[in-house]
Amino acid sequence: MTTRPVVAITDPLPEDFLGDLEHAADLVCAPADAPGVLADPIVARAAAVEGLLCTLEDRIDGAVLDRFPRLRVVSTLSVGFDHIDLAACRARGIAVGHTPGVLTDATADLAMALLLACARRIPEGIETVRRGRWGRWRPARNLGIELRGKTLGIVGLGKIGRAVARRARAFGMEVVAVRRTPGPDPADDARIVDLDTLVTRSHVVSLHVPLTADTRRMVDAAFLSRMRPGAVLVNTARGAVVDTNALVEVLARGHLGGAALDVTDPEPLPPDHPLLRLPGVVVTPHVGSATRTTRRNMARLAAANLLAGLAGRPLPHPVPGAPG
Ligand code: DGY
Repeated sequence: MTTRPVVAITDPLPEDFLGDLEHAADLVCAPADAPGVLADPIVARAAAVEGLLCTLEDRIDGAVLDRFPRLRVVSTLSVGFDHIDLAACRARGIAVGHTPGVLTDATADLAMALLLACARRIPEGIETVRRGRWGRWRPARNLGIELRGKTLGIVGLGKIGRAVARRARAFGMEVVAVRRTPGPDPADDARIVDLDTLVTRSHVVSLHVPLTADTRRMVDAAFLSRMRPGAVLVNTARGAVVDTNALVEVLARGHLGGAALDVTDPEPLPPDHPLLRLPGVVVTPHVGSATRTTRRNMARLAAANLLAGLAGRPLPHPVPGAPG
């Protein structure tokens, strides 16, 4: 009888998301009410764990990896991998996989939803109705920003950036973009410009870069102050790409028209955080990929990475720069 490899899952997934992994591995799962890589049931089997299915909430560094002496594959249920110390994985020969491609549309949809919510002041309108303050229709009340004819600046023209560009063009926006690495010809999606042009010309700036040493706090006080007066910042990438204190400051002095954020720094954002008291700020709790279809597809890719890695094959979706 062959023994199945032990795979630790740091946050429970719906059973039907796991596919073949359920039969191919002996699964040990953190409880729903106490998720995490160091949850008791996982720690109890740590010496046997060969595969890890983690989320962006799990910081996977050298100290954590040392708890799992037989670990061969880390598979994160996310496209972002800034929570994983790749050098520590490389030093231990641990393969690292992620879930690119399958959350492009869900995240792009949310970026547009946030932009529209901010531009048309939707949360404020909902609050008005809920509080019984609807009142008389007034010509000069509830006025927002129209998207047609405005310029959207996309920082990071990868898959998600391009998907947002296409949606924005359907709304009649002109789209400019900066990209960090040469990619496919953006064709009609966007016009490539330099960062300064993008920041100073755009009515809306939408962030689509991964969090790296280069992008951490790239949206700082200088960046925000150079944005057009009344412009809107949209962030569905990573909270730490933006200097939160600087954002609070520029919003408080009325320089920006608003901020639409699915990711924040810190995350979760405490309910008494100054950002939440500012007008024109719309915040959702990191739900860019939160559709059933997308999460199921992410789980499929994460399971495929584990199955391949545990069988000694190259991962189908390796993290760039990590051993695959
Ligand atoms: C990711 O995958 O990195 C998103 O932030 C969450 O789905």
